[in-house]
Amino acid sequence: AAVRGLSTTAQLSKINNVTVIGAGLMGSGIAQVSANAKLNVVVVDSNQSALDKAQKGIESSLQRVAKKKHADDAKAQTALVSSVLDRIKMSTNVSDSVKDADLVIEAIVENIDIKRKLFAEVEAAAKPTTLITTNTSSLRLADIGLNLKDKTRFGGLHFFNPVPMMKLLEVVRHNDTSDDTFQKLMEYGKAVGKTTVACKDTPGFIVNRLLVPYMFEALRLYERGDASMPDIDVAMKLGAGYPMGPFELSDYVGLDTCKFIMDGWHKQYPDEVAFKPSPLLDSLVDAGKTGRKSGEGFYKYK
Ligand code: CAA
Ligand code: NAD
Repeated sequence: AAVRGLSTTAQLSKINNVTVIGAGLMGSGIAQVSANAKLNVVVVDSNQSALDKAQKGIESSLQRVAKKKHADDAKAQTALVSSVLDRIKMSTNVSDSVKDADLVIEAIVENIDIKRKLFAEVEAAAKPTTLITTNTSSLRLADIGLNLKDKTRFGGLHFFNPVPMMKLLEVVRHNDTSDDTFQKLMEYGKAVGKTTVACKDTPGFIVNRLLVPYMFEALRLYERGDASMPDIDVAMKLGAGYPMGPFELSDYVGLDTCKFIMDGWHKQYPDEVAFKPSPLLDSLVDAGKTGRKSGEGFYKYK
């Protein structure tokens, strides 16, 4: 509460430069909200076409935001879009891009070995004071950061999809995260307009620990033949006030991502019934039906 009311730049006197690694669905949203808070942002991806796609995605998302904020003022809409875009640079080089970073946010593929390799490169090139964070959905920070030399500057910033719309940020600390790092990450969250909650390094933190088993419980209800998918979705929207039903939401998150999360937890906790994989989900992912992004998951989007 002490920082409320101060300007964004005053709150973040220590964080001016943010480097986001991974320009996918999440990284582009994280870059957008950071630049919108007047921070200088570099977005890095190993794939140039992902950067091109991110540039277009950020622009169209900003246009939606600007249209709402300045409904009858086309000039103000254009000014908002270009002022945020001007603060975002794109790069394919990790080491160069983290040299001046005060905060690094990793949002690459959910794979422990690839993340560990990336963090070694980040730590070698970044300043000794740079805060290093991951947006992982399901992996343990202690595992991702295993080989970091200085673990006190490492923490989790878990955003939600779509990042510009979802108001929550889970700030995660593991055993070695320092109080100072945790405090600065909480302040960053407030500066980018999110409500923050404190999480420990436990599977799924708060939201995914409750949400992902719920999505799989809906699948089991359907697999038993107890209700149709559209009825389950309608029931949870109108009976529980959720914006999307569990099948719509799974398609939105990505069925491959849902499977990856559950398989990882099931392997670690084989006796936990809430972490049981679903044969139906597995068969859809095997067939390349990964949800909205592929045009088909539980529902068709083409
Ligand atoms: N950028 C900017 N604005 C956006 C946007 C985006 N990417 N997506 C939606 N909007 C805006 C639209 O402009 C629209 O505003 P107006 O209508 O007022 O102009 C408003 O949001 C509503 O959008 P829509 O009409 O398209 O659709 P909607 O009302 O269904 O809202 C939604 C979309 C916000 C996504 C809503 O359906 C929702 O909250 N769904 C649940 C999302 C959710 O639970 N996410 C968490 C997933 S779990 C996760 O992320 C964690 C993990 O680790 C897997
Ligand atoms: P995505 O597949 O849309 O994007 C990942 C990007 O990372 C791709 O553009 C890829 O080219 C890039 N990449 C992969 N390896 C790289 C490397 N070594 N160096 C640089 N770039 C690399 O994935 P996403 O949905 O944005 O998820 C990213 C992270 O965020 C994952 O850890 C995921 O679990 C987490 N997350 C996802 C969601 C969601 O709803 N999709 C929500 C919260 C958190």
